Amino acid sequence: MSDKIAYARHGDIAVLTIQNPPVNALSQAVRHGLMERMDQAESEAGVRAVLIVGEGRAFIAGADITEFGKPPMEPSLPDVINRIEASPLLVVASMHGVSLGGGLEVALGAHYRIAVPSARIGLPEVHLGLIPGAGGTQRLPRVAGIEAALEIMTTGRHVGAKEAAAMGVIDVIQDGDQTENGIAYTQKLLDDGMPRRPVSEMPVPAAIDWDAAFNAILAKGRGQISPAHCVRAVQASVEKPFLEGLAAERQIFIDLMGTDQRQGMIHAFFSERAVGNLPELKGVTPRALDHIGVIGGGTMGAGIATAALLSSIRVTLLEMTADAGEAAHGRIAGNLSGALKRGKISADQHDAILNKALSVSTDYASLSDADLVIEAVFEDMDVKKQVFTKLDAVCKKGAILASNTSYLDINEIASVTSRPADVIGLHFFSPAHVMKLLEVVVADKTAIDVVATGFDLGKKLKKISVRAGVCDGFIGNRILATYRTAADQLIMAGASPYDIDAALEDFGFAMGPFAVADLAGLDIGWAVRKRKRAEAGIEGVSTYADKMCEAGNFGQKTGKGYYDYAAGPKARVPNPDVMPLIEADRAAASAGGKTFTSDEIVRYYMAAMVNESAKVVGEGIARRPLDVDMTLLFGYGFPRYRGGPLKWADIVGLDGLLADIKSYASDDADFWAPAPLLEQLVADGKKFETLNT
Ligand code: 3HC
Ligand code: NAI
Repeated sequence: MSDKIAYARHGDIAVLTIQNPPVNALSQAVRHGLMERMDQAESEAGVRAVLIVGEGRAFIAGADITEFGKPPMEPSLPDVINRIEASPLLVVASMHGVSLGGGLEVALGAHYRIAVPSARIGLPEVHLGLIPGAGGTQRLPRVAGIEAALEIMTTGRHVGAKEAAAMGVIDVIQDGDQTENGIAYTQKLLDDGMPRRPVSEMPVPAAIDWDAAFNAILAKGRGQISPAHCVRAVQASVEKPFLEGLAAERQIFIDLMGTDQRQGMIHAFFSERAVGNLPELKGVTPRALDHIGVIGGGTMGAGIATAALLSSIRVTLLEMTADAGEAAHGRIAGNLSGALKRGKISADQHDAILNKALSVSTDYASLSDADLVIEAVFEDMDVKKQVFTKLDAVCKKGAILASNTSYLDINEIASVTSRPADVIGLHFFSPAHVMKLLEVVVADKTAIDVVATGFDLGKKLKKISVRAGVCDGFIGNRILATYRTAADQLIMAGASPYDIDAALEDFGFAMGPFAVADLAGLDIGWAVRKRKRAEAGIEGVSTYADKMCEAGNFGQKTGKGYYDYAAGPKARVPNPDVMPLIEADRAAASAGGKTFTSDEIVRYYMAAMVNESAKVVGEGIARRPLDVDMTLLFGYGFPRYRGGPLKWADIVGLDGLLADIKSYASDDADFWAPAPLLEQLVADGKKFETLNT
């Protein structure tokens, strides 16, 4: 008999307890066990009802995702759920923790549902590139109505017990132990003579305009297809008898299982969890993080301070002058009132943070007891060195000194201190209290427990932390610089910024590179170009991009950049001054005249991204391909359903990409020098994913 499903009798009730830690995923053994235990309950004398509960932290988190992409194993989940629902016994589910995907589908196969107040339900299959495949699209509309059911399955969001009860998904909410509650509730149902109540036998709601719903959801998905397919499955629930609807749902589920989008999203699911899991950090105790200092309260410093404060960490922010301190305080207060408005914190928490947890100072002595200080001053090596020299003098022994620099050399910064082992890069993304990515930049002498503390900070701040080595731009900005250069090459060859943005937005990026540049501020790139030219001793160069800045057009913040924002930030009307400047550069370089299809633009841009990513992995700046993938996903708007640039490369084929890279080398041999790692993988007939373990 199954050891995944414990069986116990409580009078007339058979209690089936799922025991498959950590989250009771519905593996083949669990499905098989549920079948066996249902048989047992039905064959035992005196059993009138079955109660299904989960042991540990959840009822059931869904199908076992590790089985996806492998040959199907009997019994299938729809068969298990149909068998549960068809039982002559009264079946009750008692839910706690999460009931997601197949977990909610099992609960909907029961005849009644009770849950603790903290329970959450959901159908998150769309986040895996799928639709619910075990009756969720057929049963949920019968219980909650079409509108609510479609909203739940197309967003994949978690729904709290109270809301789920209001929708009719949960019958009773009761605090306490899920098994005891479930037994008492089932007994009451028996005592009251309540009948079996199979959801499949409930009437279906009225039809809606299916094509309109499909098109609206498809348009919202930015190329992701699975949410729209939920509509077709729900349509089948209304238009077909139950079993035929179920078969239609299963067919869509199986079709989606074969897509690249499913592969990309499942890669993202597991990589998101693996990225912070570094073997060298096993057993390493992080240092304390009760009090953090932040130096510089501009865009980044204020955002970093906000993120720490929202995670209950005390912050001392240091600015140059009292006025600058006041401005920084204002920025943080603005961020916090946004968090209050969105319901992320209560009014009491908001006041406590501003009055107690945050202090603003102009005196370095106020940082003397900080556990970690993050510097976010101007991007200038001399200024950074001055700050670190002062920090070294005032900070307590064991305090970690971190820089939020975007590009500068952490080893050089560390060299001005007497404690390079305590120095690390913590590279946040703007806005720092919103963006999920944190690059933990490990310098040559950084101590291992300092690295562990960087990851611990990321966890406390609910970020996705990626380990990066030192180089110009670390993982993300280095790769960004390369694919931006590829975009600039396309422009010189004949593509317009607007063609490029449109092609990449069709590919799935939230925004194309030129719209992003306008949002971030064109002055940032201008400053970098000027610095690099000065370092290389180049004078008198002014490209079209420099000329836009010279004219005071820095993007959204000045109202004009590549686009004209006179009609609002979303209007994005091409700025008519830009193309003449580009034409002038093309004429001066005797370039231009080529035309590109959207596919050609995407291929060129992605080839540059993949080639540089392979160099970043090959040089050990990123440990694994998945570290690059997660950096691009969480920091640079790369479409999640494509998994990341290296997952995308694996899917489209490395040999074809390498051939393209070699063909582009006629434009610029240095820039397009193939990454040795890419050449090696092609020679060995391997994929990037072989390096992820
Ligand atoms: N299958 C296999 N493993 C799973 C899993 C699942 N459904 N859900 C979680 N896990 C694993 C995680 O990979 C992780 O493993 P690790 O410790 O080796 O890294 C471990 O369980 C714990 O997970 P988390 O670290 O994510 O723990 P949290 O407490 O932060 O979150 C959770 C728990 C909310 C359940 C979250 O893991 C989650 O959202 N899981 C996915 C839920 C899901 O997508 N369910 C639908 C599956 S598809 C389906 O059911 C198809 C059906 O319609 C036919
Ligand atoms: P910013 O110009 O908005 O803010 C810098 C702040 O530092 C100013 O408020 C200034 O008064 C203060 N400051 C300067 N010197 C100081 C000193 N010696 N002591 C105390 N305060 C001082 O700059 P921003 O954008 O916040 O950038 C800060 C750092 O973060 C830079 O290194 C930048 O490269 C990096 N960064 C910026 C990102 C962005 O998108 N803006 C993203 C990630 C990193």
